[in-house]
Amino acid sequence: MDAGAYANDIEQVLLSREEIQGRVAELGARITADYEGLDLLLIGVLKGAFVLMADLSRHIGLPLEFDFMAVSSYGAATQTSGVVRILKDLDHEIAGKHVLLVEDIVDSGLTLSYLLKNLRTRRPASLEVCALMQKNDVQQVPLDIKYRAFDIPPVFVVGYGLDFGERFRNLPFVGTLRPEVYRDAVT
Ligand code: IMP
Repeated sequence: MDAGAYANDIEQVLLSREEIQGRVAELGARITADYEGLDLLLIGVLKGAFVLMADLSRHIGLPLEFDFMAVSSYGAATQTSGVVRILKDLDHEIAGKHVLLVEDIVDSGLTLSYLLKNLRTRRPASLEVCALMQKNDVQQVPLDIKYRAFDIPPVFVVGYGLDFGERFRNLPFVGTLRPEVYRDAVT
């Protein structure tokens, strides 16, 4: 499984490195075809999307600009609070630009819904979403995610950018944690 120093913490691998890399390459090719002739701006939602952003962008054969936003996430808890806070805003204006928002995972959808509403007010030429994962049956708001790599069950996952208490982001796969890891984090 290649979990390295985290080998004792991982319960199950949900998405292998190979599966992820295959899907990311496919999405990159689709995005390249869809945006041909247009200038595209990728906006990554920190911190979780940084790994997908790096891999995906290298499968997009177009001139690209990059920007990042940081929003509040769960911290060390595993339940969404529904409260979204912008910790870092974009560096540049997006008016008139073709924007692709890159997200790690859509759980309740509250974060993404807030971000889309916020970005729409800045009048981009177009606005679409690319997400690595969407959890099944837990969305509290209807969302149209044009480029989605995987649907997963509604479980808490780590790896490929996703953390628990800021750890596990550098795992090359996505997996679930052993229950002891949560227990040790609260005691
Ligand atoms: P939502 O607002 O409930 O859709 O949550 C979105 C954000 O919560 C994501 O961008 C992640 O930062 C975080 N998140 C949601 N589910 C998970 C998970 O299973 N593992 C790690 N972080 C998660």
